Amino acid sequence: MNTNQKPLLTWNTLNRGCFAGRGGRFGAAWASVWLAGALASSPASAEPAAAGPALVTEQLRCEYLVNPPGIDARQPRLSWVVTSGQRGQRQTGYQVLVASDNDRLGQDQGDLWDTGKVTGGQTTGIVYGGKALASRQRCYWKVKVWDKDGKASAWSEAAMWGMGLLRPGDWKAEYISFRDTTPVHRFAQPLFLPPARQYRKEFAAAKAVRHATIYATALGIYELHLNGQRVGEAYFAPGWSDYHQRAYYNTYDVTALVKPGANALGAWVADGWYSGYIGFGLLTGIGTEAIGRYTYGKTPALMAQLEVEYADGSRQTVVTDPSWKVTGAGPIQEADFLMGESYDARQETPGWSKPGFDDAKWQAAIRAEDNGAVKAKFYEYRNPASGAPKIEGRAVDLGFKRPPTLEAYPGVPVRAIQEIKPIAITSPADGVYIFNLGQNFAGVARLKVTGPAGTRVRLRYGEMLHPDGRLMTENLRKARATDFYILRGDLNGETYQPRFTFHGFQYVELTGYPGKPDLETITGVALQSDTPLTSGFECSDPMVNRLFKNIVWTQRANFIDLPTDCPQRDERFGWTGDAQIYVGTATYNADVAAFYSKWLRELMESQRPSGAFPGYAPFPFQHGWDFGTAWCDAGVICPWTIWRAYGDTRIIERCWEPMTRFIAWRKSESKGCLGVAHGNEWGDWLAVNEKTPIDYIDTAYFAYSTRLMAEMAQAIGKTKAAADYRELFDKIKAAFNQKYVKPDGSLTVDTQTAYALALYMDLLPDNLRAPAGARLAKKISDNDTRMSTGFLGTRPLLPVLSATGQNDLAVRLLQSRKYPSWGYEVEQGATTIWERWNSYTKDKGFGGEQNASMNSFAHYSFGAVCEWMFSQLAGIQTDGPGYQRIIIRPMPPSPGSNPDHKPIDWVRAHYDSIHGRIASAWKVEGGQFDLEVTIPANTIATVFVPARTAASITESEKPLAQVEGVKLLRAEGGRAVLAVESGSYRFAAEP
Ligand code: BGC
Repeated sequence: MNTNQKPLLTWNTLNRGCFAGRGGRFGAAWASVWLAGALASSPASAEPAAAGPALVTEQLRCEYLVNPPGIDARQPRLSWVVTSGQRGQRQTGYQVLVASDNDRLGQDQGDLWDTGKVTGGQTTGIVYGGKALASRQRCYWKVKVWDKDGKASAWSEAAMWGMGLLRPGDWKAEYISFRDTTPVHRFAQPLFLPPARQYRKEFAAAKAVRHATIYATALGIYELHLNGQRVGEAYFAPGWSDYHQRAYYNTYDVTALVKPGANALGAWVADGWYSGYIGFGLLTGIGTEAIGRYTYGKTPALMAQLEVEYADGSRQTVVTDPSWKVTGAGPIQEADFLMGESYDARQETPGWSKPGFDDAKWQAAIRAEDNGAVKAKFYEYRNPASGAPKIEGRAVDLGFKRPPTLEAYPGVPVRAIQEIKPIAITSPADGVYIFNLGQNFAGVARLKVTGPAGTRVRLRYGEMLHPDGRLMTENLRKARATDFYILRGDLNGETYQPRFTFHGFQYVELTGYPGKPDLETITGVALQSDTPLTSGFECSDPMVNRLFKNIVWTQRANFIDLPTDCPQRDERFGWTGDAQIYVGTATYNADVAAFYSKWLRELMESQRPSGAFPGYAPFPFQHGWDFGTAWCDAGVICPWTIWRAYGDTRIIERCWEPMTRFIAWRKSESKGCLGVAHGNEWGDWLAVNEKTPIDYIDTAYFAYSTRLMAEMAQAIGKTKAAADYRELFDKIKAAFNQKYVKPDGSLTVDTQTAYALALYMDLLPDNLRAPAGARLAKKISDNDTRMSTGFLGTRPLLPVLSATGQNDLAVRLLQSRKYPSWGYEVEQGATTIWERWNSYTKDKGFGGEQNASMNSFAHYSFGAVCEWMFSQLAGIQTDGPGYQRIIIRPMPPSPGSNPDHKPIDWVRAHYDSIHGRIASAWKVEGGQFDLEVTIPANTIATVFVPARTAASITESEKPLAQVEGVKLLRAEGGRAVLAVESGSYRFAAEP
């Protein structure tokens, strides 16, 4: 891991999407958050415009991925970023060439697609319109652009994408398994933790290899090896989907690994989400046999197809079939997400994925279906017809079923993105050593150990310590979160890192260690879906800077194949409420376009028969009702947010039909255009001493989702639907006003959350917005300037305060250290965002008000304030979808407006948008307001500068009138509104 590497934030170098043979760069991207240099080198401090090359094209991507080896979009979308050293540069045309081989491309022949010169500035979402693409096709492409003066750029560097296996008939491989003779486990205790299996197959490559590609998938999770080397670096492939409906496969370019002569393919396969323990199934007694494992089937299976293309054009295919060998007697004796891994190094099988290994003792693999039918009972709640929910069991067959659809994995792989060294070791009891990694995160530990064969070392993981120094594991509930390593006795030392589990932790407890460990014994390895960092934030309040880091770390810890609620306890579900609250922040902090494109498939597919979206997606089993107000709305809010951030209209089209069914369901449930109290009563989850009724929240969300539908309908040209949704929104708004709004702007539901939602969701007439904002501010100040909001109310709270003339209060809440607040948590020692503001307190420990079992220390929901930190405090916003047009409207608090802390007086932030880096850095000093802004080439911005008069504004010490690229539009609310072309600017004004 290159944690010390200079932060490289360009997309080209990040090289996302290729599974095979790419190392380390992602770590650098995320690590940059910690490297002081990252912000110091932010372009906000860039020089004023200088003459430079006109336009340069970089960051070529296909379906958001850099050089993806196997996609299945038949009309993939291409994008690039143009950069320039000149102000006001823009693209006026482009030409894309797509060739079937690199040589042709080198000769400027686009035999698959040559767009010719296309007039316009589009750089994202360019839909491939060339020759029909076939399975396995490799497409090499480059782009040239024309600048504002009609001058052509040089050709970009070449990029590529590969097509996967598009037709079911392309798969010659069969799903294979081991002969599974274990009975269905039916007990909560003891746990049933089968080994990870190893599969292998030798083959001969007859000649020199031109190209070799592996397509692979599993029911379970797998790791491929070829000739002794790991293929790619992804963890937990092929990700979580509802395997009964659909599974993903991954594509790997293994050209460099296949050798003429003898070769061997190997694969590890573990239970994963398919058949391991997941979620709270064991805790709540639901799922298969009421123990929360075997959710989709009993026996994991593997399917892989290696296709070799020789230099002479001939082909060879190696597929999984019963000629493969398999063993469960290897070193990984237990492998479970929640429970952990158990590794017996004495059972290692050196050379198992190399040719010549003696596999005589291994069994023959079998066709997965040959394990036959397996009868079991599956328990889950059902929606109550009346009264309390009931658990019901139904007969299921856990035998192999081929997923009806196989799709190319559309997301980004989970990778090791950073290594973390411990900062201290303590020993609360003899032989018990606790390593403090100084940071709560998700991933695994790497153990280094030397000692006698057979020594068993136990690693337990926890987020916190008890006051007496013991590891705190109560909040893990049924997640055993324990790994075991049994030494083989190598005098040169042994290293172990689990493959098929992850934990949420800051502390690692070691017992059974031979001798005395030191700081080198344990290394933390942070795992995360490879969503490169796109944000930087720093300001004058160090607490807020720590908060920003905590938010980023919590995002990292919960973006592991899907956006989860928490990474440590027996949950780790794609909770939809949490996801919709946080998705806006997620899009600022990281490039999550591909990541969400993947999860939105799960979300759409998990839609309930009623039309509601569920509480979590995937939806392996039902607990309580199958939906909850505001959780169900994620099915509209998340696609809308991804469209806004990336200008992605295809995501709208993909989600359109389920989204319309959702609104139809909402309509059918509503009474007189008002929402109702129905479903799970999560409501404003974890609100502090103030309850907002569900029917109120439901009305607000009904209106909000409908409004977002109108916007999305418009964006994809469905004008009739847009008008219908607008009309419906107006009706809901009218009903809302009639029921809840008083003439003075106060609400009949008088809670902070009620005001925050009404204002955020545009439910009040314009003339009542400021009075409602004032009433909200009064409620907060009457509450000792404390929030009472929960998950739903906290997210819109600061945005609506800033929008209704209460910005000073918004910033004051951000800087507060009083319970409940972000600062309170930071002062209690948080390094991540906690589920509850007081999950731990210095004076009461865990013995405060909290129930230890519902007390995660890495829950991103309250971190959603980060969206406001970027959009309001730093003032970076998109103006319309996709940051083609930008708004920079910083909202500094008034000096002296906070009696408790010095109001924030400078902010430096940047966001790497899909059009390039946007930066905003402001400072209030000595009666002057300085604003440094960077606007990417080929975009334009409206910049709001707080200024007494427009005449007082300078840019790089020059009066505005003399400045290239800037036009004064108007004065508005104490601000000069400027139209600004791309480039870097230094404004100064008297506010
Ligand atoms: C999860 C939450 C989730 C909630 C529903 C919890 O167990 O951790 O984040 O949204 O259930 O109320």
